[in-house]
Amino acid sequence: MSDADVIYKTDALIAEDIDQYLEVHQHKTMLRFITCGSVDDGKSTLIGRLLYDSKMIFEDQLEALAADSRKVGTQGQEIDFALLVDGLAAEREQGITIDVAYRFFATEKRKFIVADTPGHEQYTRNMVTGASTADLAVILIDARKGVLTQTRRHSYLAHLIGIKNIVLAINKMDLVDYDQAVFDGILKDYTEFAHSIGIKAFTPIPISGFKGDNITGLSENTPWYRGPTLMEHLETVEVNSATDADKPFRMAVQWVNRPNLDFRGFSGQIATGTVRPGDAIRVLPSGKTSSITRIVTMPSEAGPAGGAGGGGDLEQAVAGQSVTLCFADEIDCSRGDVIGQADNPPQAADQFEATIVWMADEEMLPGRPYWLKIGTQTVTATVQHPKYQVNVNTMEHLAAKTLDLNAIGVANLSTDKQIVFEPYEANRTLGGFILIDKISNATVAAGMLHFSLRRAQNVHWQATDVTREFHANLKNQKPAVLWFTGLSGAGKSTIANLVEKKLARMNRHTFLLDGDNVRHGLNKDLGFTDADRVENIRRVGEVAKLMTDAGLIVITAFISPFRSERDMVRQMMQPGEFIEVHIDTPLAEAEARDVKGLYKKARSGELKNFTGIDSPYEAPEDPEIRIDTTGMTAEQAADAIVARLIP
Ligand code: ADX
Repeated sequence: MSDADVIYKTDALIAEDIDQYLEVHQHKTMLRFITCGSVDDGKSTLIGRLLYDSKMIFEDQLEALAADSRKVGTQGQEIDFALLVDGLAAEREQGITIDVAYRFFATEKRKFIVADTPGHEQYTRNMVTGASTADLAVILIDARKGVLTQTRRHSYLAHLIGIKNIVLAINKMDLVDYDQAVFDGILKDYTEFAHSIGIKAFTPIPISGFKGDNITGLSENTPWYRGPTLMEHLETVEVNSATDADKPFRMAVQWVNRPNLDFRGFSGQIATGTVRPGDAIRVLPSGKTSSITRIVTMPSEAGPAGGAGGGGDLEQAVAGQSVTLCFADEIDCSRGDVIGQADNPPQAADQFEATIVWMADEEMLPGRPYWLKIGTQTVTATVQHPKYQVNVNTMEHLAAKTLDLNAIGVANLSTDKQIVFEPYEANRTLGGFILIDKISNATVAAGMLHFSLRRAQNVHWQATDVTREFHANLKNQKPAVLWFTGLSGAGKSTIANLVEKKLARMNRHTFLLDGDNVRHGLNKDLGFTDADRVENIRRVGEVAKLMTDAGLIVITAFISPFRSERDMVRQMMQPGEFIEVHIDTPLAEAEARDVKGLYKKARSGELKNFTGIDSPYEAPEDPEIRIDTTGMTAEQAADAIVARLIP
């Protein structure tokens, strides 16, 4: 929503002179903040109080509230404070599926967006979502309860996410008789904790959201308190974008604006720094340079179709502004690229150390490919085993094999393409990322890049003279991977073995990689947890790839139960070289055959994590070949597969 679309309802000012009001309003700075704390710390009451006292609420919220008050039969237009709070709380409870509720309000001095997030531990993801764009965090404490686990957890997250301004709102002071000793005690506890996690400064304020103490006016009930009121602090605290403007220039390209042949501009939001016409720039990752000829203001919501014109040209633009930049030269630049200062550009790399906040019910699977989104770039990333996990109560580093829901850890990760980045500390836009599950499309983690790994720069690809084409020509064949997948006992090994024999008789150079065999050597360190199966397939995929480079026809027989990893291997191969063969034997049939007696063991509980029993199998949706073993013999199946490979 652009600022100009916003219709405020305020009393006198608007009636007097709407133009003048809007003019003043547009030039106000914007503070984005988040409120966090435990479930009953009084967040809804506080937010209600801020909205109520600022007396400037969005039209739609007013309408909803007016409708509410009609329902309960309240008279008149005046909004009732208690009703407002009830409305906010109810809205959020019903909206459990809404991750974060953003509420808008404004005062004479500033505009505000507050991210209102539920407090339960399982909503860490919401807190992270809300905090990722916030300049300030209000950490609420119930004066009767003091510093709790959630206080520590949310403070740690807020700090991790790079929120520089922390307000410690010690709430419900009315319920402890405005006792200074209570305030001082909590302050002492929190100061100790804050210093231990690296929070250098914060602003403590004794408040009562319910009674309104120290919200907009200094309270007579706390004569011992000499700091600002909450609102005063929110109105005057310096926002991040002010300091971001002094950093080196960086802008991620959101789209290329080319309405006609005479205009070519690159649109996006400036992440950091300042840009002026004439500035020398460099486009990353290509490294091509040019200079800025024009800075055109964006045609707001109209987007790319809104034409080149939009507003007018600017003499300069700073962090936070959305603009379209034109270059002096016709250099390549597209969505996902980053434009930076020519002599001080951001780096590009494909291996990193990062902090990861895991937000999905399913644990993180090291080695599994996830989408990684950073700025406007999307790549495939795999995370290695965590170096450690952080206990947010004690700040201890714990050993960890994976990350579960709400866990925070540090791990190395690698991406399939170079990404343009900066350490999160220096740049939230170019250092903050999310991970997305490729199958379900759910956001599973948020993360912050620390630095690129040196080895990424020092290990180069060695070009070899005997190429993969040469290897293949020597063998007089086209390399391929016949990737068998199916339940244990489906018949993969039997059919794969027959296929290899038939191909050998046709003078084809083949190699069969079989699950049971590979697990005796290369993969003997792996078991049958989800994580180990992911790693099993990753390694086999890499080996199969090397073998196709050597010109071989590779046949693999692994359960390979997960779609993600099978797709990952498919992506690793040359187009057309990966042939997925689903040995589609129903569970009942495989279990009835039970060649190795493993189903019996699994059913009796003697064998854990058995595929099809207590470990999932994700059947291929669109395999190149599907073999129904209930309708044909192994010989017939093998013939069908060979015929598909060599028509
Ligand atoms: S995969 O899931 O990681 O692809 P893989 O094909 O390597 O599995 O190994 C499967 C073989 O290991 C089975 O054919 C079976 O003989 C044996 N096995 C032992 N324990 C299990 C288990 N818990 N689940 C599945 N197979 C198992």
